[in-house]
Amino acid sequence: MHASREAAASPPALSIRDLRKTYAGGVEALKGVSLDVAPGDFYALLGPNGAGKSTLIGIVSSLVNATSGAVEVFGVDIARRRGEAMRLLGLVPQEINFNLFEQPFDILVNYAGFYGVPRAEAAERAEAELRAAHLWGKARAMSRTLSGGMKRRLMIARAMMTRPRLLILDEPTAGVDIEIRRGMWQALQEINAAGTTIILTTHYLEEAEALCRNLAIIDHGRIVEQGSMRALLSKLDVEAFVLDIDGELPPALPVVEGVRLQARDGHTLDLEMPRSMDLNRVFAALDAAAIRVRSMRTRSNRLEELFVSMTAQHAERAA
Ligand SMILES: Nc1ncnc2c1ncn2[C@@H]1O[C@H](COP(=O)(O)OP(=O)(O)OP(=O)(O)O)[C@@H](O)[C@H]1O
Ligand SMILES: [Mg+2]
Repeated sequence: MHASREAAASPPALSIRDLRKTYAGGVEALKGVSLDVAPGDFYALLGPNGAGKSTLIGIVSSLVNATSGAVEVFGVDIARRRGEAMRLLGLVPQEINFNLFEQPFDILVNYAGFYGVPRAEAAERAEAELRAAHLWGKARAMSRTLSGGMKRRLMIARAMMTRPRLLILDEPTAGVDIEIRRGMWQALQEINAAGTTIILTTHYLEEAEALCRNLAIIDHGRIVEQGSMRALLSKLDVEAFVLDIDGELPPALPVVEGVRLQARDGHTLDLEMPRSMDLNRVFAALDAAAIRVRSMRTRSNRLEELFVSMTAQHAERAA
């Protein structure tokens, strides 16, 4: 009882209201985005190239100025109490941006020092984070010599040096092979299990599926789908048809379990059913209700179309 009352009272890890960004030059990168991420959540922002993901993350981490809208991190408004909000956040940017001629250990210690962590404490944390990232053996290597996957893990270790309550990663696994990606997934799951809220952007539905409990799909600066991963996946499993009917529809439509039948007008029906279901079951029910189907066509599934176009864009980029 007590715990649930407390959970209800605690502010979201991230709350965004009607966020808009128009870049100089006129590109509208965000066209009114609103979302909430609960404390402890693992949340994905899924979307194709140019959707506005990095812009959104840039605004949350105060690297980009919003045109309008409000952002709060654990209830702290980033415009009014910027320093306080930034101390709650860890950011792993899309591009590798540490000094390639420094050693991982020094990169971490210096980063923490910049955020006011005393040197002895920073050294302790650096060892712990390098071990957690399986990079302790590379602590004194020249960072330039790290593999792509190691460099990405070093970026995560660096962000964890300030002990953020909210870790934000912008395409953490872009361009790394599947084995390294799996290793990074595990590292992120461990960080999340230890209590850190995580938000990541990705092109990969499978990555969001493997990691995230909730997600938003963003396209052309707008959120086009939002909710739990489970609900979204079950939507993907639905096939939609439009049926043209001979004559007039009766006032009451037959009921078939798991199927959504809806009259569009007097002689057109919208049909949605699970992919695995036998179409004949629906036809038998229609037949029993004296509804004669003249023709049918598939209605495209908006969500699926979006994923297909995202995948195509990704394939183009990788080629
Ligand atoms: N500094 C900038 N100046 C002008 N336009 C920009 C700037 N940064 C981004 N944009 C534009 O804003 C839009 C959104 O870009 P953004 O980088 O946020 O997308 P994204 O979802 O992160 O894409 P990707 O998956 O390719 O990283 C794009 O049209 C982009 O060209
Ligand atoms: Mg981006």
